[in-house]
Amino acid sequence: MENTVLVTGGAGFIGSNFILRWMESGPASVVNLDKLTYAGNLHNLASIADDKRYEFVHGDIADRVLLCSLLDRRKPRAVVHFAAESHVDRSIRGPEDFIRTNVDGTFALLEEVRAYWVGLEERKRGDFRFLHVSTDEVYGSLGPKDPPFSEVTPYAPNSPYAASKAASDHLVRAYHHTYGLPTLTTNCSNNYGRFQFPEKLIPLIILNALNGKPLPVYGDGQNVRDWLYVEDHCEAIATVLHRGQVGQTYNIGGWNEKRNIDIVETICHIVDEMAGNGGTARRSLITFVKDRPGHDRRYAMDAGKIERELGWRPRETFESAIRKTVQWYLDNEDWVRDVTSGSYRQWIETHYSS
Ligand code: NAD
Ligand code: DAU
Repeated sequence: MENTVLVTGGAGFIGSNFILRWMESGPASVVNLDKLTYAGNLHNLASIADDKRYEFVHGDIADRVLLCSLLDRRKPRAVVHFAAESHVDRSIRGPEDFIRTNVDGTFALLEEVRAYWVGLEERKRGDFRFLHVSTDEVYGSLGPKDPPFSEVTPYAPNSPYAASKAASDHLVRAYHHTYGLPTLTTNCSNNYGRFQFPEKLIPLIILNALNGKPLPVYGDGQNVRDWLYVEDHCEAIATVLHRGQVGQTYNIGGWNEKRNIDIVETICHIVDEMAGNGGTARRSLITFVKDRPGHDRRYAMDAGKIERELGWRPRETFESAIRKTVQWYLDNEDWVRDVTSGSYRQWIETHYSS
């Protein structure tokens, strides 16, 4: 077996950060299987496109024929499964793609990986890992005084996206429990950093602030999320892959709860400072808009287990990493221009027109 890792959804935000980091940190080969939906962007991986250790395969995780031949040809020692439909608002407008990729796609992947894994010789079977990347949203919503989500918090998903991820988590659990597939699951809080598609709060606000457009805040802006810099998330995933205990789940978070309105005001302040504001503070662009249906009020993660058992802790503070993130969007106009054409404009018009 080669020292190859099969990454699904590696052209997306977190997957591309993970692949770049993984290839920098060692000699391992990576196969990236990605369907290139609106959220997949090969420009993120331009720096390794010609690296002999890297292969891109354009395809769908629900395509079992493709999966079967790919696993047989590349014989990975691990699968890291990022591929998903990931945007809550899109799941509310059109849940079907979420069920198709997140549920049916994960099922197809598990079935083909199981068949591949059963056929491995014993030592390789023992070393193999299937790491499923999931979210804190499966746990539902917290009240202001509730303790943060832990690995034993009951699942209570509230959006079609969260429900589809919860279903995939349950399938992964069942494949370990029933068939002994060596799985690991990570549930992480909200990420931010380079390559995030500007439908999500932080890049949307950065770009709208730069362009003098309204800054849409849902409802009263008091919803709380726990924010983690994407590079810290990628390091946590690598740590779980190397040292995690098979069959376990690990919560990953930044110990960094913030209200949406505070995130938006912080970005306004940083953009004013970095790009100048011509005398009008960008916070004047803040616009309260209609709330997201079923909007979860608060997420918070207890990342104590991964800290105690595997020694991972976030390296970045929010204060420094949010500045790096704003700077990245300022420095990468070509990337921004590329992703904010066509279907992006259509989404923004449809979603924010009312
Ligand atoms: P993303 O939307 O930026 O990227 C998803 C990638 O998956 C894209 O490259 C897309 O082309 C690919 N993809 C979609 N459907 C596919 C299919 N059927 N077959 C193959 N490829 C397909 O998502 P992201 O923000 O990078 O999230 C990655 C994973 O991490 C997801 O599973 C998500 O649930 C999870 N997660 C995200 C966050 C976050 O804050 N973004 C936090 C916790 C967990
Ligand atoms: O918690 C982890 C999850 O974080 C991931 O599993 C998802 O894939 C990821 O998209 C993210 O989900 P959220 O719904 O929390 O992220 P989003 O950036 O869409 O929204 C963050 C908060 O900001 C949320 O409370 C909704 C609010 N918001 C969002 C947008 C796009 C606004 O107020 N205005 C907006 O325009």
